Amino acid sequence: MTNQTYPLGQRNVKRLGYGAMQLAGPGVFGPPRDRDEALAVLRAAVAAGVDHIDTSDFYGPHVTNQLIREALSPYPQDLVIVTKIGARRGADGSWLPAFARDELVAAVEDNLRNLGRETLDVVNLRLMFDAHGPAEGSLAAPLAVVADLQRQGLVRQIGISNVTPAQIEEARGIAEIVCVQNQYNLAHRDDDAVIDMLAAAGIAYVPFFPLGGFSPLQSAALSAVATELSATPMQVALAWLLQRSPNILLIPGTSSRAHLHENLAAAVLVLPEAAIATLDAIGRPA
Ligand SMILES: NC(=O)c1ccc[n+]([C@@H]2O[C@H](COP(=O)([O-])OP(=O)(O)OC[C@H]3O[C@@H](n4cnc5c(N)ncnc54)[C@H](OP(=O)(O)O)[C@@H]3O)[C@@H](O)[C@H]2O)c1
Repeated sequence: MTNQTYPLGQRNVKRLGYGAMQLAGPGVFGPPRDRDEALAVLRAAVAAGVDHIDTSDFYGPHVTNQLIREALSPYPQDLVIVTKIGARRGADGSWLPAFARDELVAAVEDNLRNLGRETLDVVNLRLMFDAHGPAEGSLAAPLAVVADLQRQGLVRQIGISNVTPAQIEEARGIAEIVCVQNQYNLAHRDDDAVIDMLAAAGIAYVPFFPLGGFSPLQSAALSAVATELSATPMQVALAWLLQRSPNILLIPGTSSRAHLHENLAAAVLVLPEAAIATLDAIGRPA
């Protein structure tokens, strides 16, 4: 079994958390298809011991944060809620950059109000130079705004998302960075070197789309390993991430309690060396 907790800044959290994005409506826009199930998923996550939930006020917008508040407030002492700012939604559901000082301040205020908190545990500055993947550009100006909000006591800890190695270095010169949230999974491994660098620095790496995101992972090799271990492919994909590096914290997203429990059970799935070798080969560049 892999280590079960890792520091997210000042707080130790379990390595398997929960990502709330799937609780909003189709396209992460508007209300959920099944509101009662969305509330039940959140309550079931905490009841099962989840102490790290990832969200944003731009999911919905406002929808997931309002669901989190309704389901879980007053919040358990040990629950760390991580949110992100830097984007806003167009009337058509599009994802637009929102990096001006007033937009960042408004985003923190929206998160505080909709979550019902006086301080946000962790705020990720989500870069939008390219909405779909890391792209170069200075984050100094928007990160200085987040650092200012931290000094005012509205933000406890700071992370960054959708970033390049150069932006991680730049950010660490401006503020203490407790986590990096980029796309990474069994089949999408651009960040291999970044993960190792962050592990050496004691910084958490939180992969988004750990299960492949909007198109969940599909691979004959993954399915074969899962069958051999009497597990599901999604459990194997999560277990592979857990063994990949001790600083990886997982936030798989789901809108169903059945999938939630299936995913959380991956924490105790042990992958034999041969299975790891097979899985490693899936994402290795040809
Ligand atoms: N920083 C960023 O830019 C960024 C971007 C995207 C996401 N995120 C964060 O990362 C979290 C995780 O990403 P994600 O939710 O988009 O993708 P994900 O965790 O890779 O996958 C979610 C998808 O997998 C399905 N799924 C989950 N568990 C399953 C299971 N056991 N069996 C079969 N299907 C399963 C879900 O459908 P069901 O609902 O049917 O289970 C959903 O379609 C989000 O919740 C969000 O908090 C951050």
